[in-house]
Amino acid sequence: MAKKPVEKKEEVKTTGHSWDGIEEFNNPLPRWWLWTLYACIAWALVYVTLYPAWPMINGATPGLLGWSTRANVAADIAEVNAKNEVINAKLAAADLTMIADDAELNTYAVNAGSAVFLTWCAQCHGSGAAGAKGYPNLLDDDWLWGGDIEAIKTTINHGVRNEEDDDARFSEMPAFGRDELLEKEEIAQVVNFVMSLSGDAQDASLVEAGAVVFEDNCAACHADDGTGDRDQGAPNLTDAIWLYGGDHDTITATVTNARYGVMPNWNTRLSAAQINAVATYVHQLGGGE
Ligand code: HEC
Ligand code: HEC
Repeated sequence: MAKKPVEKKEEVKTTGHSWDGIEEFNNPLPRWWLWTLYACIAWALVYVTLYPAWPMINGATPGLLGWSTRANVAADIAEVNAKNEVINAKLAAADLTMIADDAELNTYAVNAGSAVFLTWCAQCHGSGAAGAKGYPNLLDDDWLWGGDIEAIKTTINHGVRNEEDDDARFSEMPAFGRDELLEKEEIAQVVNFVMSLSGDAQDASLVEAGAVVFEDNCAACHADDGTGDRDQGAPNLTDAIWLYGGDHDTITATVTNARYGVMPNWNTRLSAAQINAVATYVHQLGGGE
């Protein structure tokens, strides 16, 4: 396109507007600008027809291509699942105690288990599995319900004290204070005795009487020597590892009101392969037996 000569004032009409004698020319829009505008409009029309665009009450117009980010994600997930199908089937059917001997399967199980853990377990047990008050540390070798891989799997499958699974691990420590099973004085005695078990005695005169209270009321679950009982999920009280806390006030609160730690069952939420993966992951964290 040959450039037009710059138009002189006389050749261009004015809009008739005038401000203090300054007039507004009525120049045509530059061609390049106008064509860009038309191209944008044409592109928008094509786009709106092909892709989801106009918002409706529920969602948007779907567009002729049927493209959707949701479908893309579903396809990606299906692709990953298809890729892992063989190894997942192998993992689901595997004898748990043999997984560690199969390097490829073990690596896969630990990685997949770590992903499951971060998604489903970290809220309670912490992203590093170190636990929190009431939520056990899964890194140490202090186990409430058992630390071999089968026991870990059973705990994960059925959970603890939940209402959904009839096979959930269950036991219930009595609320000795609230339900008036023990006098305040007896509670003070037994608390001091419990503290002495991990070498933290407070009042020697109470410890002796506390030993009797313990034998009568606590040993059935926590064992005569206080080392606990995994069949009942009763913690070892001698190792200075505390689920709820080992100071005088916390132990008094535990004995007075009892605790009732609940973990959901995972057998209805996770696949068999995912359960085996996360059991393998937890088992190899350091405390596995
Ligand atoms: C809602 C909180 C919560 C979530 C989520 C949760 N847990 Fe737990 N978990 C608990 C509690 C509470 C206990 C201890 C119950 C008790 O007092 O006996 C526990 C106990 C355990 C134990 C037994 C520890 C022992 O010492 O015997 C294992 C193993 C375990 N959880 C693994 C998992 C795994 C794996 C997941 C994820 C798939 C998970 N948990 C998700 C709350 C939770
Ligand atoms: C019926 C069994 C049972 C009896 C009896 C029982 N306990 Fe327990 N105890 C448990 C269970 C199970 C837990 C774990 C509670 C939970 O996770 O909800 C527990 C937890 C505890 C804890 C918390 C430990 C920690 O790591 O924080 C203390 C302390 C304790 N018991 C002391 C006692 C004392 C003292 C008595 C006797 C006066 C007693 N228990 C009697 C079952 C019992």
